[in-house]
Amino acid sequence: MAVPAAAEERARELRALVEHHNERYFVLDAPEISDAEFDALVRELVDLETRHPELATPDSPARRPGGAPASTFAPVRHLVPMFSLDNARTRDELEAWGTRLAKAIDGARYVTEPKLDGLAISLLYRDGRLTWAATRGDGVTGEDVTANVATIRSVPRKLAGRSVPEVIEVRGEIFMSAAGFEELNRHQADAGQRLFANPRNAAAGSLRQKDPSVTAGRPLDLFCYQTGEQDGGPRLRSHTELLAWLGDLGFPVNPLVESFDDLEAVYGFCESMEQRRHDLGYEIDGVVVKVDDLGQREELGFTSRAPRWAIAYKFPPEEMTTELRDIMVSIGRTGRATPFAVLEPVFVGGSTVGMATLHNEDEVARRDVRPGDRVVVRKAGDVIPEVVGPVPGTRPDGIEPWSFPSTCPVCGSPLVRLEGESNHYCVNVDCPAQRVQRIVHFAGRSALDIEGLGEERVRQFVEAGLLDDAGDVYSLTVEKLVPLERIGATSAANLVAAIEASKGQPLERVLVGLGIKHVGPTAAVSLARHFRDLDRLAAAPEDEVESVAGVGPTIAESINRFFDVDTNRGLVAKLRDAGVNLTAAAGPEVVAPDGVSLAGATFVLTGAMQRRTRDDAAAEIEARGGKVTGSVSKRTTYVVAGENPGSKLAKALDLGVEVIDEDHLEQLLAEGLPA
Ligand code: IVH
Repeated sequence: MAVPAAAEERARELRALVEHHNERYFVLDAPEISDAEFDALVRELVDLETRHPELATPDSPARRPGGAPASTFAPVRHLVPMFSLDNARTRDELEAWGTRLAKAIDGARYVTEPKLDGLAISLLYRDGRLTWAATRGDGVTGEDVTANVATIRSVPRKLAGRSVPEVIEVRGEIFMSAAGFEELNRHQADAGQRLFANPRNAAAGSLRQKDPSVTAGRPLDLFCYQTGEQDGGPRLRSHTELLAWLGDLGFPVNPLVESFDDLEAVYGFCESMEQRRHDLGYEIDGVVVKVDDLGQREELGFTSRAPRWAIAYKFPPEEMTTELRDIMVSIGRTGRATPFAVLEPVFVGGSTVGMATLHNEDEVARRDVRPGDRVVVRKAGDVIPEVVGPVPGTRPDGIEPWSFPSTCPVCGSPLVRLEGESNHYCVNVDCPAQRVQRIVHFAGRSALDIEGLGEERVRQFVEAGLLDDAGDVYSLTVEKLVPLERIGATSAANLVAAIEASKGQPLERVLVGLGIKHVGPTAAVSLARHFRDLDRLAAAPEDEVESVAGVGPTIAESINRFFDVDTNRGLVAKLRDAGVNLTAAAGPEVVAPDGVSLAGATFVLTGAMQRRTRDDAAAEIEARGGKVTGSVSKRTTYVVAGENPGSKLAKALDLGVEVIDEDHLEQLLAEGLPA
């Protein structure tokens, strides 16, 4: 059957693309596309060549493990070639591999290993001494990076144990831990050096240094998972035995390796690794599944690219490249202007991402991303999507650095960046965008928690003139909502019911909902417990507010300022008129043991307490007539220091105030003040 011209053309194109990206990755160390995109190209080529074997050329990159030897380091020929792995991306593909195995062998035990996202290394030992270390290169010939690898602490220089072979090639992965990567990038930033995009690039860059002393300063690590040539040593029957032996010889082996009798359990391991991947402290991009029995491996053998006895189960990619269409600015409830990236939508980290935050002006500059750039987008787990940086070497000519807009995109007022701050703010408190966000915050999860009143609805209601501030939420009725677009009678009724129900929320939630700067859920609970009434808080002198446990001078000042503003007092009045609960019931009665008194003593609680919560301790002290305040002064009787006490401890020592521990506090609570 003749090969369609389009297929022939596409195969040629794919071969050129794969060659190009191989060179960018292996030789220039500057990939232009993500691993997942590269894999997709290779896959398409392999598929085409499988469907039309006439298309396959002997030197097709689909037949080779990928990568070309780089020129900076001397070439070294591996004694046994380093193969790559076939991939499975779904449970079905994993099962299809199992089905292929079952045709050749009779039942299997599988070893599962986290697939480290670093770079493969081959370590050659002769008579137990490290002789050379080589990168994979094209699988046949790699680069001699011995001097650099010898600086890595976990690479044994000399093998341990009794069964040291005459010759052994040990294969493993060089990688950088997440913490090591972050610290390295902090250093790079401090030194005004280029940042690394991810731990893999950092590890690769660190290994390719001309000067080994630079590599020595980099936090590189190693796990071993395979061998090549071996002469001497014990006769091994399984991969499990091999890993145990490698451990005895002194090689680091990943402690998370497991083995299973069926693929169902293997898949369970893959799923659990995918869930845990962000807690491991280093990056993995999948799980490598290997047939354990070495005799069965022999029977299965290799294809031209990869062993048939192993497969890489790959997680969905967390990094992809896409086009940065624009950088825009959004306005938050405090007026803060946050730049964000508008992206050509891309599927990454399990969802389609079309926008990503860019934090502030300095962050945009640090990443040097410009509208029109091709950029790397990362979405790891639950973490919000991020633009890592431009793809090096792909910037179209003539695109300019982005500059922060000088006016608010919503109300046109000036955007100002305050001295010493990294954020810009819209100066207009009546800016409709701020208004919307304040109401959204009020109705949000941590505040009044009104289901069905999200950003889209709030914007619609503000535009329809139904809402000016959060207090107006309580004037919404089914009659007012039904005429609006996209809102039916049922959803209007549900929303009004949710609004009604929110009137009974506890005082601390209303306090959060008001959006007073610095007042989060924790401070709100302390304030509600202490004042029990919003009016009392509004009228309280600043030093009383400051004396509440867990509330410092910053929060106290912010509260004071908030209630100084007419519109804020107006908002509270609206809430009261609407029947929103603005009081707190008295907390559980704390009864002091008979005759125990702490009257006349003032306590400050600081640091993490183990025996009871700070609020609890405060309640017990107050029940015995003692006072609890938030800051240390000469009038303080005791500072109770828990774990990691902060500046309050220093101040107590400075002023000569008595510092006691939790045990001592318990004694006072039981016995009262010493005579
Ligand atoms: S075994 C012939 N085990 O994944 C067997 N590879 O996609 C070859 N990798 O080049 C490799 N963790 O750089 C193996 N536990 C592991 C691995 C692992 C990461 C890398 C390795 C390899 C690539 C193949």
